[in-house]
Amino acid sequence: MALKSSDVGILAVDIYVPPTCVQQESLETYDGASKGKYTIGLGQDCMSFCSEVEDVISMSLTVVSSLLEKYNVDPKQIGRLEVGSETVIDKSKSIKSFLMRIFEECGNTDIEGVDSTNACYGGTAALFNCVNWVESSSWDGRYGLVVCTDSAVYAEGPARPTGGAAAVAMLIGPKAPIVFESKYRGTHMSHVYDFYKPDLASEYPVVDGKLSQTCYLMALDLCYKRFCSKFEKFEGKEFSLSAADYVVFHSPYNKLVQKSFARLYFNDFIRNCSSVNEEAKVKLEPFSSLSADESYHSRDLEKVSQLVAKNLYEEKVQPSTLLPKQVGNMYTASIYAALISVLHNKHVSLNGQRILMFSYGSGLTSSMFSLKVNDRQHPFSLLNIVTVLDIQHKLESRHVVAPEKFVETLKLMEHRYGAKDFVTGGDASLLPQGSFYLTHVDDLYRRFYDRKPLAIANGH
Ligand code: ACO
Repeated sequence: MALKSSDVGILAVDIYVPPTCVQQESLETYDGASKGKYTIGLGQDCMSFCSEVEDVISMSLTVVSSLLEKYNVDPKQIGRLEVGSETVIDKSKSIKSFLMRIFEECGNTDIEGVDSTNACYGGTAALFNCVNWVESSSWDGRYGLVVCTDSAVYAEGPARPTGGAAAVAMLIGPKAPIVFESKYRGTHMSHVYDFYKPDLASEYPVVDGKLSQTCYLMALDLCYKRFCSKFEKFEGKEFSLSAADYVVFHSPYNKLVQKSFARLYFNDFIRNCSSVNEEAKVKLEPFSSLSADESYHSRDLEKVSQLVAKNLYEEKVQPSTLLPKQVGNMYTASIYAALISVLHNKHVSLNGQRILMFSYGSGLTSSMFSLKVNDRQHPFSLLNIVTVLDIQHKLESRHVVAPEKFVETLKLMEHRYGAKDFVTGGDASLLPQGSFYLTHVDDLYRRFYDRKPLAIANGH
């Protein structure tokens, strides 16, 4: 008989952020950009990046070990492991296969799942796979584990300040405190060249920044429309921003998130929803006859809609912006870092609330879905999740480096990308206890990682 699962969702979550970062304000000066361009224009504060001993594999080894240890989950209890990443280190061997060392040590090789890749969307594909598995007749009663891991780096130029790096791990199972409302997903997928990585010898993407912004907003409109109509079909009542307590976006940089929320508000206005007040209706009315295409390029609409949606933005979006503004774009991990920010900032009052999520990956793939919070017992209580995440400490214990050091690291990584037969400096002194780090790559391109010992207080 098939096992029955209910309230499937995220039981536990952890994040790893590289401990080196550069302040956007100092990068602005270094790059010769006008003052305020990165901090106000893009809305970013700081950007984390991988040092020469870190990569998407070391970060995911660290975050998976940390989650299993902090929640006391026996690696044998994991039945599915899915990784989302767009940072290609090997064109055949999955990041998941590197993570198997954690499970093999405990005698568990019975774990389904591999990597999902499509720009920043791979983590959401991995998450959907795990949730679907736990909800399906092939579920064997064990947990799913999702890993989103990316190092976002750009060539010199306007896109460089929109980098970042992190890895997120999420434990998936029934009776979760963060429950998937699986019926209401809205998806839009299409073929465009807005951001892609055709040069396999380089870690940097080819990016049409302006096109990617428009594609993001178009995808947002379509996903929202489809999400609303599914909700309305199942629930028999209107869905508007009033039905979402928080809205969490894939966050390449904060300004796009501000514009995106304003866009959803404009959608509600066009749909004549109760979420739009009378004063806002009057201000938005002059834009009601714009074609969709005109509306994406109207600076006046952008300005007015941001203004009338400002209070709601502060209430429903601002709590999700902490990590994305502090760490930068984490590609697949970005939307889940934004979700973690909501948990961190609002866990005391989150019970019973709905979180609307928008995931976007260039190329393009996008989905909107929703989560409902239902607080549980220890260890899967919101309080414990937030304690384990320890966000404030993670952010405050980072080492701020000068832009020169950041650029020097990127230069070194340009040579290291795809290279063989090298030994790293091996300096893991800045990494937290228990972190994995790259020691060397041999003449057959095989990568080797060591682990820093765990802190005494952290257990054995
Ligand atoms: N003070 C305040 N604001 C300023 C200043 C200043 N001194 N100078 C510029 N700005 C504002 C601009 O007005 C603009 O704001 P607006 O969008 O509200 O008009 C903003 O700063 C950005 O400046 P631009 O000149 O428009 O943009 P730029 O050419 O520098 O590139 C971009 C920005 C396109 C985001 C670039 O960084 C990029 O290509 N990033 C990667 C692509 C990306 O992240 N796309 C998003 C979705 S896909 C994904 O997730 C990868």
